[in-house]
Amino acid sequence: MLRGMKRVGVGLLGCGTVGAAALALLAKPGLAERTGAALEVRRVLVRDPEKSRACDRALLTTDPEAVLGDPAIDVVVEVMGGEAAGPLVARALDLKKSVVTANKLLVAKSGRDLLERARRAHVDLAFEGAVGGGIPIVRTLREAFASDRVTRICGILNGTSNYVLTRMLEGGLDMAAAVREAQELGYAEADPSLDIDGHDAAHKLGILAMLAFGAEVPFGAVPVEGLRSVEPVDHRFAQRFGYRIKPLVVGRDHGDDVELRVHPALVPEKSVLANVSGALNAVLCEGEALGPCLVYGRGAGGLPTAVSVVSDVLDVARSIAAGAAGLGTGGIRFAARALRDPGRAEARYYLRFTVRDEPGVLARLAGQLGAERVSIEQLVQVGEEGRPPLEGGPATVVMLTHAAPAARVRAALAPAPFMLEPPRMLPVEDV
Ligand SMILES: NC(=O)c1ccc[n+]([C@@H]2O[C@H](COP(=O)([O-])OP(=O)(O)OC[C@H]3O[C@@H](n4cnc5c(N)ncnc54)[C@H](OP(=O)(O)O)[C@@H]3O)[C@@H](O)[C@H]2O)c1
Repeated sequence: MLRGMKRVGVGLLGCGTVGAAALALLAKPGLAERTGAALEVRRVLVRDPEKSRACDRALLTTDPEAVLGDPAIDVVVEVMGGEAAGPLVARALDLKKSVVTANKLLVAKSGRDLLERARRAHVDLAFEGAVGGGIPIVRTLREAFASDRVTRICGILNGTSNYVLTRMLEGGLDMAAAVREAQELGYAEADPSLDIDGHDAAHKLGILAMLAFGAEVPFGAVPVEGLRSVEPVDHRFAQRFGYRIKPLVVGRDHGDDVELRVHPALVPEKSVLANVSGALNAVLCEGEALGPCLVYGRGAGGLPTAVSVVSDVLDVARSIAAGAAGLGTGGIRFAARALRDPGRAEARYYLRFTVRDEPGVLARLAGQLGAERVSIEQLVQVGEEGRPPLEGGPATVVMLTHAAPAARVRAALAPAPFMLEPPRMLPVEDV
């Protein structure tokens, strides 16, 4: 330790994938010089102290009070997840300890309450690791865009979903096989529904909307559509039109209201987001003055997430050493803002119909769309397995529409006797 340097005590709640990697980074030399404070890890909370782990056993405890009640701990790092984390984080803040967390569920659900507690206690709540693992998207929105107005964010924030869609496209797998492969490689949980059904991405979008648009997003308010309706054939048609299907989060600040949505969408194959493959994450932000800015990298995993967590610890420790704890968090401002009705989301749409191939079907489809003022930009029709359609047999009609509100497009897809399956509808996002 450098002589005369302030000591900042650190306590960890959790020492699993992220916690163990954070401890490894905290043990690296040179942090004190970079921070202006000497970091000292004093306690690590775990469930099972007998488990083998690369951590000084003397630091381990199963009693949360050993962390929260230690007056020499200034920064609590919450990397345990689960229901028990919330009350511990709230208590740590009330005890005037700054908190660093990687817990997206907690920040999405209780961010408002926790930020208010942090403000009242003049301490920090830092959560870079909660969105996009190792990519510095929270910092970018909070600091780099502080002098600008963010008008749009569009990104890929769930590595599992991105991996699954990438493998469907590149490996020709169906969704179930792609999910199994993701599980075997450790990208997907045993129960992949939080990822595949879009809720994990929605939690992260809610957090980003708070930072980008100053919007307080009630938990569960982001309209979500998961991947389950995407079939291998949709990838082939998207490619034919010059697009790729990606699991997107989209946020726009319209001034009067904020539009938020999570869904698979077609993106132009030359766009940067179309080329974010596998388990990687990326967020494209657009500032009124700056224009586009891309943040791209490893969106999960122990070490990448620990980079975000430990960088937050260093930031918070620097503020404590400078006698300015809470300054960063105090700058996060948000308020209730109107959320745009998802039916008003205006986009071009990809539509796929499985129809009986008989005279007049195309005219009736065009009529249904026309009645809702949805116009067709491009259209292809094929028979079974890509062969020319046989009269009376099933045919696939795929089209891209011009921009129209989602509600009108949905109304135009009303069931009709010539439709053999419910139509599929995916937005096209021009990024
Ligand atoms: N893994 C990632 O790639 C990633 C990426 C971004 C964000 N995150 C977030 O980071 C957090 C941690 O994730 P992780 O993957 O590191 O989890 P993990 O590997 O399951 O580790 C959880 C740690 O917390 C401890 N723990 C859990 N519940 C506890 C309790 N009630 N009392 C005491 N200790 C408890 C566990 O103790 P034992 O070791 O004794 O079981 C373990 O050390 C989560 O909020 C997650 O959403 C993870």
